[in-house]
Amino acid sequence: MKFNPFVPNGIAYPGMFIGRLDEIQTIEQALFQTLNGNPQHLLLTGERGIGKSSLLFYADLVARGEIEDDHTNFNFITVSTDLAGISSQVGLIKQVARELRSKLRQHQKLQDKARKVWEFLSNWEVLGVKYNARDDELDPDELLDDLVTICDQLIGSEQFDGVVFLLDEADSPPAAANLGEFVKVFTERLSKRGQPHLLLILAGQSLLISRLRESHESSLRVFQIVDMHPLEQSERRAVVQRGISIANEKNERKTAISDDALDLIAMLSEGYPHFVQQFSSSAFQVDTDDKIDIHDVSTGAYSENGAISQLGAKYFSKQYFSKILSSEYRKVLDYMATHGDQWVSRKDIIQNCGVASTNVDNALMALKSREIVLADDARRGFYRLPTRSFATWILAVGRSGREDFFGDSA
Ligand SMILES: Nc1ncnc2c1ncn2[C@@H]1O[C@H](COP(=O)(O)OP(=O)(O)OP(=O)(O)O)[C@@H](O)[C@H]1O
Ligand SMILES: [Mg+2]
Repeated sequence: MKFNPFVPNGIAYPGMFIGRLDEIQTIEQALFQTLNGNPQHLLLTGERGIGKSSLLFYADLVARGEIEDDHTNFNFITVSTDLAGISSQVGLIKQVARELRSKLRQHQKLQDKARKVWEFLSNWEVLGVKYNARDDELDPDELLDDLVTICDQLIGSEQFDGVVFLLDEADSPPAAANLGEFVKVFTERLSKRGQPHLLLILAGQSLLISRLRESHESSLRVFQIVDMHPLEQSERRAVVQRGISIANEKNERKTAISDDALDLIAMLSEGYPHFVQQFSSSAFQVDTDDKIDIHDVSTGAYSENGAISQLGAKYFSKQYFSKILSSEYRKVLDYMATHGDQWVSRKDIIQNCGVASTNVDNALMALKSREIVLADDARRGFYRLPTRSFATWILAVGRSGREDFFGDSA
């Protein structure tokens, strides 16, 4: 048995975390600004699996001084939580307060002032301890005021550089939770109290932007938007190589990987970090001779329960059904996938995908009704795939069994 270092199902731990240099610089800059009293709040957006949670975790470590920045060793107290399952503003404030309390508890040496905040938090009615009030009986505005006071006092205790809220899955609360209003009112009340040492970093799918706007027209103005893209070519290879070297530190039997296997993973993944991790993990798993080559990559990808089917089940479950494997639908999807998530006209599809026009129409209707393809509201006859990573997956599925798959060496 060998330790498999790849993490297709979890956030990239610091040793495994590659790239994102611009994003990290932006985060460090935002922390530095906050330290100096002029916070620049951040919104990390991007497709599912692009690496938002991993970047948030990295930001958490930098903010706490666990990872040293070039210039400064920060000492923020961080409140990291995810907002999945939050349905109201009261729920949101409670969740943040609970996390803050548990963070403070972990600090061994809380000085007097900060200890008072912790004690206050522990008794806070918002946690339902005293009154056991239901969420809908609590006044969100009062709670927000309490949270402002708590943060104000905590920062005032001068034990920390300030407070950083890292809120993941920020696109998931419904409009009723009023996240945009929370952001706007919370940051404004803090600044009115002359308290500028608080930073918000929110992460979520791109939908988060419209959610915030819906909730409060000007809440977006508070944020700098950091849109995350797939990894660069060299970073894709670096993720695989890093994994292999982590494995080689732990395992007695060392693993090698061929250059063309690295390239194949980089190509199949198109830089989506969750794809890189999954293809690498599956290749590592099927390798038996301690040398990962392109056959290991392809067996790992295409075998039953291999990388392709794992990714399909995890990320595209709605789309992942037998119909798209029928050859005419596949041809339509294959052609559309060459355009990523860009609009393609029906005419273009008919001309290029090799399927008769009535069958293309049937396929588009069926795919649209299952939300596998989207139709343009503004222009008749234009369609696209919902995400680029879905297009990447479709293309990867399509490569199985193709003669060119193994390149020249097959
Ligand atoms: N910078 C990176 N280097 C290496 N691997 C990464 C990196 N970022 C993310 N990953 C890997 O990619 C996968 C997805 O990462 P992560 O969970 O952070 O994405 P996400 O955008 O939060 O996804 P979701 O939208 O599903 O919450 C994980 O397997 C993670 O280990
Ligand atoms: Mg995530």
